[in-house]
Amino acid sequence: MNVLVTGGCGFIGSNLVKYLRRERPDWKIVNLDKLTYAGNLETLADLEGDPQHVFVRGDIGNRELVEHLLVQHSIDAVMHLAAESHVDRSILGPEIFVTTNVLGTQQLLEASRARGVKRFLMVSTDEVYGSLGPTGAFTEVSPLQPSSPYSASKTSSDLIALAYHHTFKMDVVVTRCSNNYGRYQFPEKLIPLMVVNALHDKPLPVYGDGANVRDWLHVEDHCQGLLVALEKGRAGEVYNIGGGSERRNIEIVKGILGLLNKPESLIQYVADRPGHDRRYAIDPAKIRAELGWKAKHTFEEGLADTVKWYVENRAWWERVTSGAYRQYFDTQYKTR
Ligand code: NAD
Ligand code: DAU
Repeated sequence: MNVLVTGGCGFIGSNLVKYLRRERPDWKIVNLDKLTYAGNLETLADLEGDPQHVFVRGDIGNRELVEHLLVQHSIDAVMHLAAESHVDRSILGPEIFVTTNVLGTQQLLEASRARGVKRFLMVSTDEVYGSLGPTGAFTEVSPLQPSSPYSASKTSSDLIALAYHHTFKMDVVVTRCSNNYGRYQFPEKLIPLMVVNALHDKPLPVYGDGANVRDWLHVEDHCQGLLVALEKGRAGEVYNIGGGSERRNIEIVKGILGLLNKPESLIQYVADRPGHDRRYAIDPAKIRAELGWKAKHTFEEGLADTVKWYVENRAWWERVTSGAYRQYFDTQYKTR
């Protein structure tokens, strides 16, 4: 089997490429990534010289390039993860979110249709459903009510992918998963940002009252869910993937400080994210019943392992947090 993974140098993509190399050693993985600020080829340094992993720097919106790769490598399936992924950035500058997530995805779908790709896995998000009240959980038939430019762009790409199934009979499967955490996450997202700031004894910026809830999923569990959906999912279906680990942001921040033996006085409440979704929770009953998938990691064990990894891999995040990231971070702070 030859698989095109898009965004394979990002957080989930790099974990997925490594996971596939371990779990499906005979597969060839072609990794198409533009290497934006979020893409880091160094993360895949241990795959250097691996003939089953081919890295190509390029844009999913470059149809000619994509079609060339699909033919050159006789690609059977596409796992589409490349995206602009950060909600705060989409508030500062929505345009690239539409360009990459909406237009880029459509070009990728069109190229895949033209070249007869047998299965297209669209990696979407639970943010398509918008925000929940204090109870209940998103199912695959919950209304789509995205709030941010990021989630609206992901909803668009998710629906375009489904439209390619309905209209052109393309074999498309969509997964919508909750907040991932784990190794190699760019330190702009809640967990790695808080770990890195705490290690520098810098303030930990908690938005609003810190009581927003996310449903955390270990990235390895997500990768397993993606593989199961790719291999066994039914064409035209949507599968929610969730960790069953709802936590308030402030609990997580305090947990990280506890693991690092740092004082809670580092916590700084800051202005809320505009349009901040209050709560996400996933009902994963469908993927469990149909495909037999279930999250294996507990949040406490996974968080401890992740924090330990950041402590032990300072060189990775120190390189990542230079340059463009720092510039972005300064802008973020000036606008709050
Ligand atoms: P990320 O920001 O860490 O990585 C995105 C990757 O895509 C980067 O390597 C980047 O270089 C690449 N990329 C961006 N634009 C590109 C383009 N035009 N062409 C080719 N490559 C491009 O993102 P992530 O957190 O790993 O998320 C991966 C996917 O999973 C995204 O589609 C995201 O919407 C989805 N998702 C993420 C989460 C989460 O918690 N992180 C949860 C649900 C869904
Ligand atoms: O739910 C899935 C989504 O999860 C993915 O689709 C997105 O790609 C991914 O970025 C993530 O979105 P969130 O907005 O939930 O993640 P983030 O880590 O940015 O924020 C998590 C929560 O923490 C959210 O309530 C905002 C809050 N937060 C975040 C940051 C960066 C803070 O309080 N302070 C911060 O500095």
